[in-house]
Amino acid sequence: MGVLPSFLLKRLTAPEFDVAGVVVDANGTGFKEGDEVFGWIPIFQNISTGQGALSQYTRVAAADIVLRPKNVTPTEAAGFSIAGLAAYQALLEFGKIEAGQSVFINGGSTAVGSFAIQIAKAKGAHVAASASAKNEQYVRGLGADTFVDYTKAPLHEQLVAANVTPKYDVFFETAGLMDPALFVHSAAYLAPKGIFLSVGPQGSGVASFAWNVLLRPSFLGGVKRKWKLIQVKSSQEDLKGFAKLVEEGKIRPVVDSVYAFEDAPKAYERLGTSRATGKVVVKVDPTVA
Ligand SMILES: NC(=O)c1ccc[n+]([C@@H]2O[C@H](COP(=O)([O-])OP(=O)(O)OC[C@H]3O[C@@H](n4cnc5c(N)ncnc54)[C@H](OP(=O)(O)O)[C@@H]3O)[C@@H](O)[C@H]2O)c1
Repeated sequence: MGVLPSFLLKRLTAPEFDVAGVVVDANGTGFKEGDEVFGWIPIFQNISTGQGALSQYTRVAAADIVLRPKNVTPTEAAGFSIAGLAAYQALLEFGKIEAGQSVFINGGSTAVGSFAIQIAKAKGAHVAASASAKNEQYVRGLGADTFVDYTKAPLHEQLVAANVTPKYDVFFETAGLMDPALFVHSAAYLAPKGIFLSVGPQGSGVASFAWNVLLRPSFLGGVKRKWKLIQVKSSQEDLKGFAKLVEEGKIRPVVDSVYAFEDAPKAYERLGTSRATGKVVVKVDPTVA
C-alpha cells in the first residue's frame, strides 16, 4: 500500500503479496485441489493481473507456492515468503555463508532480520544482531549469539569501538536505513573479502546515499568493501529450501500480530509504526488456524 503511485495501477488491484491458503483449482500444475500451500505473488504480477493476497480467492503462479509444512499453521506461514526468501537469498546466494563464519544482522527484529538470524544459525554461522533493548530477548531467542542495542549510540561507532575480531564475513542491513554510515565505516568491522548486503535504503537522503555507497571511488575515500542490494526474486527451489528449514524446526514463524479482514487498516497502522517484531498477518477466513 502506497509503494507505487496509483497511476501505475491500471485497474483495481487487490493489495499484498504473501499468502497461505488452499488450492481450489490446480489448473494442470503439479499441485492438486485441497493442497495446503504458502507462497507469494510477485509485485509485477500483482500490478499486471490485479491479483493480490488480501482477498478470498487469488491466482498464484505454481512456481511461487510450495506445500505448507505440517508443523506450522496457515496464519504462521502466511508471512513467510517475501521476508523469508529475501533473507534466504541474501545469505546463501550473495553472502555464501558457511559454517564457522561470522554474520551481523542489522535489524534483528525486522521480519527479514528475524528469518536471517535463524537461517545463518541453521548454516552454522556465528550471529550478531542489533535491535533496541526491548527486543534483546526476542533476538537472542531466535539464535543471535551477540546483541547490540542500536539506540545506545550510533551503531557504526559501537562497532568500530568494539574492535570486532574476527571481522564479519557478511553484514546484512535489514532495517532499510538510508544513512550510509554503517557501510562507510564498515572496513573496521567487515572482513576485506566480506560483503555488505542491504534490503534497500528507504526514506530521504538518496543523493548522499548514492554518492557514499554506490559512486564514490576508493581514491576519493570510497569504501573498499563490496555492497550489494538484495531484490527478492521468484524461485521455487529457494522457497522449498526455506520450507525444509521450517519443517526441520530450524526456522520458526515470527508473527507479530494477527488482524481480522475487517481490521486490515489496523494491520497497516501496525506496520507503519516500524516497531513490529516479525510479520503482521490478516486473516481473510476467520475460522482458519
Ligand atoms: N529488497 C527486498 O527484496 C526486500 C524484501 C522484503 C523487505 N524489504 C525491506 O526490508 C525492510 C524491513 O522490512 P520488514 O518488514 O522486515 O521490517 P519491519 O518488520 O517493518 O521492521 C520493524 C522492526 O524494525 C526495527 N528497526 C527500526 N529501526 C531500526 C534501526 N534503525 N536499526 C535496527 N532495527 C530497526 C524495529 O526494532 P526496534 O523496535 O527494536 O527498533 C522493528 O522490530 C523494509 O525496508 C522493507 O521494505 C526488502
